[in-house]
Amino acid sequence: MKLWGGRFETGPSEVFERFSGSLEFDRRLIDADIRGSQAFARALERVGILSSEERAQIVTAFDAIQAESASPAFYSGAADEDVHTLVIRKLKERAGKVADKIHTGRSRNEQVSLDTRLWLREECDRVRALLLGAMGALVDLAGRYPDAVIPGYTHMRRAQAVLWPHYLLAYFEMFARDWERFGDARRRADFLPLGSGALAGSGFPFDREAMARDLGFAAVTFNSMDVSGDRDFALDFLYAASVAMIHLSRLAEDWILYSSEEFGWLELGDGVTSGSSLMPQKKNPDSLELIRGKCGRVMGSLTSLMVTMKGLPMTYNRDMQEDKVPLFEAADQLAGSLEMARAVVESVKLNAAAPAAAAEESWVVATDLAEALARAGTPFHQAHQIVGRFVLESVRSGRKPAGWTAEEMRQFAPEFTGDFAALLDPKNGMRSREVPGGTGPNAVASALAAARERLAEMSL
Ligand code: ARG
Repeated sequence: MKLWGGRFETGPSEVFERFSGSLEFDRRLIDADIRGSQAFARALERVGILSSEERAQIVTAFDAIQAESASPAFYSGAADEDVHTLVIRKLKERAGKVADKIHTGRSRNEQVSLDTRLWLREECDRVRALLLGAMGALVDLAGRYPDAVIPGYTHMRRAQAVLWPHYLLAYFEMFARDWERFGDARRRADFLPLGSGALAGSGFPFDREAMARDLGFAAVTFNSMDVSGDRDFALDFLYAASVAMIHLSRLAEDWILYSSEEFGWLELGDGVTSGSSLMPQKKNPDSLELIRGKCGRVMGSLTSLMVTMKGLPMTYNRDMQEDKVPLFEAADQLAGSLEMARAVVESVKLNAAAPAAAAEESWVVATDLAEALARAGTPFHQAHQIVGRFVLESVRSGRKPAGWTAEEMRQFAPEFTGDFAALLDPKNGMRSREVPGGTGPNAVASALAAARERLAEMSL
């Protein structure tokens, strides 16, 4: 069916119909389209276009259509241009003549904006719930190894020792920001576009506030031309999805390394790894590699829509129909990746001795030594020099931190008085880092407790 045609002498060509139709992908908006159309029928009653019987007839028919749409047969042979057209055809088939009034004072340009916003609000809620699931798994994993020490890296070189829970809580913070970001995306989508018409505002005096209340929108949009040409809400979602995928891909990369034979820190569960068809010994981190790989698809979706929107003249252009595939694609890949990441986090075992040994045998304690010298009165620049020479001497003579006694340290530099040798154990230096947000054991214990509380609040 077409929602237009009077002005044409011949119908569209087969190739154009095939090329321009969007039903194949925008049918995903059918629930939103029906809900929006039911609210619109109520609005048409309020402006006197529909009688209350007609409105009731339409709303009831839509309920039945919605129920029917769950079955695949609903779409068989459907040659409609898009989901909006399909829904109106189904209404006509079911309710007859009264359906001819449903599109009074409404344009598909505002309808597609409405449907996408309705769909996006729910998708933001779904993603936020999945984020909380992954965050909960991280907090639980942190709680399982509260005292484990790992070397933290900069430039992929061992830098300073940190607690394993401190490392995990860094990812917790990234996902907490993602949770906020999807909240922002939801807030920005939460404006009712109906009443905007094709671009100039509807020719019927709709009570837009009443429509907004009916569909649970926080407010109404301000400018009809803006509505017609706007896909910022889709871009906001895609940006939030891309950033979340970047975070997931970094966790994936870390754990692919940490679970390798070279590191040997982590054991991934059998359930989230796969074997090789040729090499019997292999246990590959495919789940994490796929998360890392899907990040590319989601960022591609953001790029795709940004490029589509760039330079489009005001207001609606059919190019904008191309927003849905990247939007749905990103939403699905992100949801799948979050689910997968949670399962991986739940499956993982830390072999705490391996990262502890990695910390102990390297010079992650160097900063602790330099700062202790500075606390004891040596200006930091000199302290840095002393410890630098101390490390150089150790590297030259093949000595690990544990290979030094307090007496030998004093011989190396008289500034190493008192208890400096204790700082050769990475666990000890950490105790000076009790600044809020630092890796001091007390700071981390409070951060972990606070993370649990924040999670409970976010789940409300
Ligand atoms: N299917 C279109 C889209 O998704 C909405 C219909 C508007 N079409 C039009 N020719 N004005 O963007």
